[in-house]
Formats: sequence, structure tokens, C-alpha cells
Amino acid sequence: MDFATIKGFKDILPEEVGTWQRLESEARRIFRSFGFREIKPPLLEKTELFTRSIGEETDIVSKEMYSFTDSKGRGLTLRPEATASVVRAYIQHRLYQKNPVQKLFTIGPMFRHERPQKGRFRQFHQIDAEIIGDSGPLSDAEIIVMAMSLVEAFGLSGLSLQINSLGCPKCRPGFKEKLKSYLSQKAIFLCGDCQRRALTNPLRVFDCKVEGCKQVVAEAPSILDFICSDCEKHFKALQKHLDSSEVSFALNHMLVRGLDYYTRTTFEIQTEELGSQNAVVGGGRYDGLCKQLGGPDHPAIGFALGMERLVALMGKDGTSESSGPDLFLAALGEKAQERVFQWANDLRKAGFCVEIEYDPSKSLKAQMKRADRLGARLVLMVGENELSSGKGILRDMVAKTQKEVGLENLPANIKELMG
Ligand code: HAM
Repeated sequence: MDFATIKGFKDILPEEVGTWQRLESEARRIFRSFGFREIKPPLLEKTELFTRSIGEETDIVSKEMYSFTDSKGRGLTLRPEATASVVRAYIQHRLYQKNPVQKLFTIGPMFRHERPQKGRFRQFHQIDAEIIGDSGPLSDAEIIVMAMSLVEAFGLSGLSLQINSLGCPKCRPGFKEKLKSYLSQKAIFLCGDCQRRALTNPLRVFDCKVEGCKQVVAEAPSILDFICSDCEKHFKALQKHLDSSEVSFALNHMLVRGLDYYTRTTFEIQTEELGSQNAVVGGGRYDGLCKQLGGPDHPAIGFALGMERLVALMGKDGTSESSGPDLFLAALGEKAQERVFQWANDLRKAGFCVEIEYDPSKSLKAQMKRADRLGARLVLMVGENELSSGKGILRDMVAKTQKEVGLENLPANIKELMG
């Protein structure tokens, strides 16, 4: 087909939509219980917003953004993630003036020009949550507990929470120097990209998937041995809060994450079931970002859950969307069809899910067949005789029984019959 979807982009078909809806509504329910409010930033932003926040040296900015110049010469980008946009909105609308601590979430598509593979797409969807305006370890614990509640709400097993601390501007430079000198000794074992990264942004080497680089970083110094006493206190307090919330976790000093804005806590919820794309949730603290984007010096922490990955783990369970209509209205003849159309509208206003037949020349048998295929629970049959008697025939498609129903006040009569 000439106009098939492009590589890395896919349709979410009606059979799958039920699972997506369940995921979104569960997320909204959980977020509400934690006091989060929804925000909907645009999908297109100035390119600079992302280069400044995510970092020039990251894979996302250096090779994965869908960027273009518009007719006015402005550099624009389809958002590769939501955090930068949420923080931009927080600054632009001075959300902190009403309440310095803002708990915000957003759900929607993101775009990254990555090599598509299992669990990795070029358009994918995130459920993203951010707490902006608090620096304490309790907000780290709260956001992690919320992320865990989200994945646990779907009964998923085999997930592990990994946490790390990347330190702060006080202690990270010391670690970076140590790492740089370690990597310079091992330069011949590193891939070309990492030889460059080792000089410009050595933490990025931890992210590399090339086997030689993975072996080098396996023996690299651990940031946890370098963080300052404030960062250590913060990280220890987080662990205590997680323990008391009965959330188990593993320390992973190599968890640096693929975005440059992180400070202190980083975390991922990983699965073993999706091959190399093992992170279902990724997040962390980004205390410097708000100021870096021209806003007040407000600390923040957040996470994003990859919806495609969670849906893949949940399997196809298209409950709500695939269930059939409550009622199918079968009309025989044009006169009946005209009335049936009005009743359908009345019944829909009363809350029923109703289907009608568009072709008045279709036989009753053909209409019943269609009702059956749609999975209709009841079929109301109306022809000339029923119109003049004021009573239609209602067939229960499950029990396979029929009874008469008064056509006047149809919604009320159907409601009564359905109990
Ligand atoms: P991220 O790790 O780049 O973090 O993405 C978060 C999650 O989005 C990943 O764990 C994964 O589940 C999903 N994801 C990322 N890329 C793809 C892809 N190409 N295909 C399918 N799923 C994908 C962020 O985006 C940060 N903004 C998270 C954050 C929020 N940090 C603080 N606040």
C-alpha cells in the first residue's frame, strides 16, 4: 500500500484501544489520589528548549529529534519528551505564584528518530508526572511510590526498581574528573562515540550499548563513592522512605539515564520481558533545570512511563472498546427507519449505546446477522405493523427470548426491561 504508516509509527487499532483507555484512566485515578493535576503542553516547541534542557551531547538531541525550520526561519521540534515542556509551562505561566509546589502530569505522544525495534518506536506515548518546587527526599519517595503504584495496578510481575544518585554541582565535577581519567586509560577499548564522550560528557559512556564500552564501565569508579554528604543524606533518606513504604529497590551506580538535566536521584522500573528495551519507567531529580530555562531556582523530580512498553506487558485486553452495543434497532421499511433514527437519538441521550441499520432495503435476517456480529445485547424490531400497534419486538440476543415493548417512552421502557 502506497500510504502505509512510516517506519516506527503505528496505528493503535480499536481492538487495542480498550487497554490504552484502561491504562490512562487508572493513571488519572492514581494521580488524583496523589494530588496531581493534568497539563497538556503542545507537541511542537522551539528546538532550543530541548537542546538546552536535554543536552547537546545526548543521543536524543544529537541524532534523534524531528526538527525543522518553519517558513519564518524558526527552528522547531516535535517533542522528544515532556519534562522540558512542563517546566517551560511552569515558568511561562508562573504556576509557582499560586502554589510553589506544583504536581503536574501529562499523557501523550513523543517523537524520537531511533532505530525501531521491540519496545522502541519513533512515535511513542508517555505518561509523565512531575513535582516542581520541592527538594526533599520525601518528594522523591512519593513520586517513586506513585510510579510503582501505577505498574502494580496492572498486576505486572518481574519488575525491578533501580535507583542511583548522580550527585549535585558540588560533588559531580570531582567524579567526572575521576571518570575521565579512568576512561582515558581505557580509551582503546571504547567505541568512537565514547572516545569523544569520554572527553566531553563522560557520564554518557555508561549508556553505551557497545559490548567493549559496557565492559569498560563495569569496572568504572562508582559515583556513590563520590557524592557529597548532603547528597548522601538525601539518598539515604530516600532509601529509608522506600523501606518504610515497603517498596523494594536495588542500587545501581551505573544508572545515569540518557538526559543531561538529572541531579541526585535517578531511577528506573525495569522488566526482563522486553529484550534490550527494558525500562518501563524512567525518571529522576532535576534541580537545576527550572533556573537553566530562565525560571526561578526551583528543584524538581519526575518520571515518564512508556505506554507501548506497559501495553506490551499487559497483553491485549481490549475490554471496554470491543464490547458491543446495548441495542440494535432493526427497521423494516423507510417509514420505520425514520422513526428508528429518532428513537436511536433519544436512547443515546438516555445513555444507551445504540446501533442502527443504514440501508432500509436490508432484510430482517440480514439486520439480525449484523446485530449479532456487532455483539448487540438486545435487538428492537420495528416494521409497519409495530408502528401502527405502538409495540415493538425486543429480542434478547443472549437469552434468545423475545417480548413486546411499548414504543412510546422507549428509553424508560427499555431501562425497566434491562433492570
Ligand atoms: P526516558 O527514559 O527518555 O525519560 O523515557 C521514559 C520512558 O519512555 C522509557 O523508560 C520508556 O518506557 C519510554 N520510551 C522512551 N523512548 C521510547 C521509544 N523510542 N519507544 C517506546 N518507548 C520509549 C524521559 O523521557 C524523561 N522525560 C523522564 C522524566 C520525567 N524525568 C523526569 N521527569
